[in-house]
Amino acid sequence: MAKRRIGIITAGGDAPGMNAAVRAVVRTGIFCGFEMVGFKRAFGGLLDGDYINMTARTVSGIINLGGTILRTGRCPELKTEVGRKKALKVLNELNIDSLVIIGGDGSLAAGNALSKEGVKVVNLPATIDNDVAGTEETIGYDTALNTAVDAIDKIRDTAQSHERIFVVEIMGRHHGFLTLAVGLASGAEVIVVPEVKLDMDDLCDKFRYASSSGKKSLIVAYAEGCGNSFDFAKQIEDQTGLEVRVSNLGYIQRGGIPTARERILASIFGAEAIGVLRENKTNVLVGIEEGRIKLTPFDELPKHERKFDVEDYKLLQRLSI
Ligand code: F6P
Repeated sequence: MAKRRIGIITAGGDAPGMNAAVRAVVRTGIFCGFEMVGFKRAFGGLLDGDYINMTARTVSGIINLGGTILRTGRCPELKTEVGRKKALKVLNELNIDSLVIIGGDGSLAAGNALSKEGVKVVNLPATIDNDVAGTEETIGYDTALNTAVDAIDKIRDTAQSHERIFVVEIMGRHHGFLTLAVGLASGAEVIVVPEVKLDMDDLCDKFRYASSSGKKSLIVAYAEGCGNSFDFAKQIEDQTGLEVRVSNLGYIQRGGIPTARERILASIFGAEAIGVLRENKTNVLVGIEEGRIKLTPFDELPKHERKFDVEDYKLLQRLSI
């Protein structure tokens, strides 16, 4: 009898730990007797029929690598009916009935759309933004958090030496989850996130007070989703007369060696994806909640949107006096 064939895709922004997840999916799949196929360049490779047959050896030596060996990308074509039909045709030709998709929100939308066309889909959440519904943590988040904190530790040296305010821009297209965690871990005096309305006058009072009470340098962790950080910095300078610099941490947050925690999470998620398909469960997101694996059917995901942790936000404010 022909072996069941399962496709793997990494999609959207790359996230450290994607490779560890690919490795776990491939090796668990092989262990279970499946044939594993990796599509290159995310859904672009699926549409072009550009794939590699994955063996236990094709994933050797990748658990510690950032990025994704399968490459990634964003694929507007898959949002169209024509694109999805093309994807189905390729999957049929290759005899692939199931897909494990590793990525963020966009990948989840793509997975959901393909599942409605009859493909058996399991999504693994992977994005440094940590903003995927149905999980408390995504693959890539812990490494990005550590990278950003390490960078801010260094920025603090120069901020203190020059007695300056530093606005440090943290990635996060729509949300401030990463910024909040980075702020807490780096001891930032202020965080600016899309989830909390900003009162510029209050903020500038805080900066003036800090300066007059002996705090000469400050770190503002500023979420990308709040708009241009240089305009924000200029506004502070204009309103307070204090010296402000901007450091946009940018894409370094997406790269680098995945942390041990990341690799473990990715390995558990990857193995679970195959377990799910093996039990013929399908169209679910694998996530984690209170330390346990949690499966959420795609249809229920809107009820499990991640909430911004207001208590952590208040804690940061209390600790930054
Ligand atoms: O979703 C991850 C992320 O890095 C966001 O934080 C950021 O807004 C976006 O991707 C950048 O996307 P691109 O790689 O297309 O520039």
